[in-house]
Amino acid sequence: MTLGDGKAEELLACLERARTAAAEAVAAAEHLATLEAVRVRFLGRSGEITQVLRSLGQVETDRRPEVGRLANEARAEVERLIAERASRLEEVELDRRLEGEWVDITLPGTVPPPGAYHPLTLTLAEIERIFVSMGFEVAEGPEVETDWYNFQALNIPRDHPARDMQASFYLTGDILLRTQTSPVQVRYMRANTPRLPVKIIAPGRVYRRDDDATHSPVFHQVEGLLVDRGVTMGDLKGVLDLFAREVFGPRTRTRFRPSYFPFTEPSAEVDVSCTICGGSGCRTCKGTGWLEILGAGMVHPQVLRNGGYDPEEVSGFAFGLGIERVAMLRYGIGDIRLLYAGDVRFLRQFAPAGEGGVTE
Ligand code: FA5
Repeated sequence: MTLGDGKAEELLACLERARTAAAEAVAAAEHLATLEAVRVRFLGRSGEITQVLRSLGQVETDRRPEVGRLANEARAEVERLIAERASRLEEVELDRRLEGEWVDITLPGTVPPPGAYHPLTLTLAEIERIFVSMGFEVAEGPEVETDWYNFQALNIPRDHPARDMQASFYLTGDILLRTQTSPVQVRYMRANTPRLPVKIIAPGRVYRRDDDATHSPVFHQVEGLLVDRGVTMGDLKGVLDLFAREVFGPRTRTRFRPSYFPFTEPSAEVDVSCTICGGSGCRTCKGTGWLEILGAGMVHPQVLRNGGYDPEEVSGFAFGLGIERVAMLRYGIGDIRLLYAGDVRFLRQFAPAGEGGVTE
């Protein structure tokens, strides 16, 4: 026997031992993890069968093909045994899990806690209810507005100082996020002229570069507009008086203070008697007994013209109300930011009695 023959025989003997040992180890493996260890032991990078294949170079040339073929066959066989055992073990594993688990289909399901309306939604719904009961229709306008509708059509030309009171978010030189709901006045009139009366409220989101405990960069207003023949400031006072009593309670009084808006003449800021102290003076009303809730006035003749109506024939009133302000007064909320923080401890307080709360 040559030295080469000795190497070939030695490798074949190794191979046979490894093959037998592998078959036994595979059959004995009770878990997938053990099976993986068996794979590594025989077929891994320095596994026993891998070593035989790696040593082929040392076998003399004429026996190399035979030893190589037998080694490859042994590897394929062990791979097959491992795969078969693995699928068997997976089945056993699944059976074991299914045996241990069962579902009681008679148990009641998990009921998600019901949601609740946001205080701003509740407030707006109440405001709409009151005005609709007085015959107003609900109209809408876009939040992305042109400079013309937001300012110029309302008598606020480009260089007008009144623009300073409404620091704006411009998207382009001529397009901005509306700073007020007043642009709906002219939009609605133009779309409906010469129909009379024009009698709308227009709620919606508005945007200003404001940010403190009573001012938010995004907030909500409700615009009111009534245009008809013979509309007077007395009508405005009557409508707002009724509104204030409905929202804040029957003893609420209103007060009109002279003010200035370029799109109304005369203009007024409207206060309600303090909802906390009833008018005697407290911290909320800073001792004055009054709380400001909105701006209002008689529609300026030029705004009526811009809307396609003749100020010689018709007159009108308009008002703009901050919804957050009304919600804060109704519910005694001290910081406007609570309305946007999304904190369920705050929001849960507005869930109607008996309706668990909001979804967490
Ligand atoms: C206006 O916006 C006028 N368009 C109102 C108006 C309409 C007057 C029609 C005449 C005729 P003013 O800037 O005062 O007015 O805003 C109206 C209300 O919006 C305020 O009374 C206040 O309640 C609310 N408001 C204003 N800025 C903010 C803010 N940053 N955050 C929350 N509420 C605000």
